[in-house]
Amino acid sequence: MNKKIAFFDSGIGGLTVLHEALQQLPEEQFLYYADTLHVPYGTKSADEVRGHVFDCAEAIVREHVKAIVVACNTATSLAVKDLRARYDIPVIGMEPAVKPAVEMNRESGRRVLVFATALTLSQSKYNELVSRVDDHHSVDSMPLPELVEWCEQLDFDPEKSAAYFRRKLADLDLKSYGTVVLGCTHYPFYSHILRTVLPEHVQIIDGSAGTVNRLKHLLELTEQHGKRPEEQVTFLSSGGQLEDQEKMKAALRYLDTMSK
Ligand code: SIN
Repeated sequence: MNKKIAFFDSGIGGLTVLHEALQQLPEEQFLYYADTLHVPYGTKSADEVRGHVFDCAEAIVREHVKAIVVACNTATSLAVKDLRARYDIPVIGMEPAVKPAVEMNRESGRRVLVFATALTLSQSKYNELVSRVDDHHSVDSMPLPELVEWCEQLDFDPEKSAAYFRRKLADLDLKSYGTVVLGCTHYPFYSHILRTVLPEHVQIIDGSAGTVNRLKHLLELTEQHGKRPEEQVTFLSSGGQLEDQEKMKAALRYLDTMSK
């Protein structure tokens, strides 16, 4: 039997990474696990989040999956190393795409703006990554907690979120930025709205494609073609409610319409 690949997030944000995997791996079966009892992670303490991640990982491995993708930047920063040490299946985490962003702007000298949760930004994993790659001190960062909250309510109101982005960016000289990095998997739900607010030259990137590529590499999966079957994803949540599953399915459909 071909075992499932698990994707895990505090809530529905990790669906943005699963969505990328569904495009690239139509022959695989997936399990999506959301910690709906404890979302959001980004505003909690590190110890609290670590405990929730370990509990969710135990529930996930009981499903006999062949790999776990921690499709949450906050959970990755806090627990991915420990998860790798605990389990003998591949555990793939998220990494904010700071390195490619810095490289993309090296010639122009433009700045990079990283959006991620306050908890991700406070962790040594993120700060060490920035010190390693940001030799010209051109990386700035900002948390956007309201986006996680709205996303979990399936509130994708374009006017409200565009006004929010404008408010958040009001004090920045956007001409001096070349790239915005989405370092929280919830944020890509709003990337088409952010696009309308940023000057045309500013690129928006996230870590989904890189994560799916690492997954393919670790599982030695080659290019797959074919039609996505109806029941390719099993949805589970810590809350265990039917409405959690309905929410995850609705959010995945929303990502489908966004990508068309
Ligand atoms: C959150 O639960 O606050 C968002 C987690 C993340 O994707 O970093």
